[in-house]
Amino acid sequence: MSTPHNSASVGEIAKTVLMPGDPLRAQFIAETFLENPVRFNAVRNMFGYTGTYKGKKISVMGSGMGMPSIGIYSYELFKFYGVENIIRIGTAGAYSPKLDVFDTVLAKDCWSESTYALVQSGDTSDIQTPSEELNERIMTAAKSLGIPLTLGRVHSSDVFYHEDSSIDDFYVNHGCDVVEMESFALFHNAKVLGKHAACLITVSDSLVTHKETTPEERQKSFTNMMKVALEAA
Ligand code: HPA
Repeated sequence: MSTPHNSASVGEIAKTVLMPGDPLRAQFIAETFLENPVRFNAVRNMFGYTGTYKGKKISVMGSGMGMPSIGIYSYELFKFYGVENIIRIGTAGAYSPKLDVFDTVLAKDCWSESTYALVQSGDTSDIQTPSEELNERIMTAAKSLGIPLTLGRVHSSDVFYHEDSSIDDFYVNHGCDVVEMESFALFHNAKVLGKHAACLITVSDSLVTHKETTPEERQKSFTNMMKVALEAA
């Protein structure tokens, strides 16, 4: 069986999937960290691989950018491929002055103005939450690796380029520490399908200090987050 967006057969995808936004990063992770990685999807170049890490079967697949994109891929993985856990591993911009570029943040929950949950299932909540169990595993893994994690509220935004550049509404009124564009849909899908999701983030830029990172730097700091996610998986 395949779906309109995934050519994998059932059984080719592990119970736990790590999801970076960029499919080329999924390829990099598979080729760098997994033993015997086998590509299960290339539809729309949204690469997905399954291999083993310390003897355990694990998959990694790109989600694309934004809630409609991760909404499709994560729904299909949960619903049609028997996936139980998805850990998003992404980047975000910092709203909080306490966060610096390269810091690693674990989503304690996420807020969004998006209509994703409302349209998908009639869910009117503007907050979606990750799996407590997955978060516990991620925090334990980070501790054992000596990698500091900050728990924070994620803003899942529908818009990358705002005409009004003020972040006050998101930071002050909604308590969001970082901004990305995917977690709200991922957590919602996990909720309606009775599955588990979490989101680990590397801060790639600050909307307070306007510090940015180069692609090479991001690649390197991404490695810390990857190790935590793989250990937790
Ligand atoms: N906005 C939205 N998503 C992002 C950002 C941002 O500033 N940085 C990284 N992902």
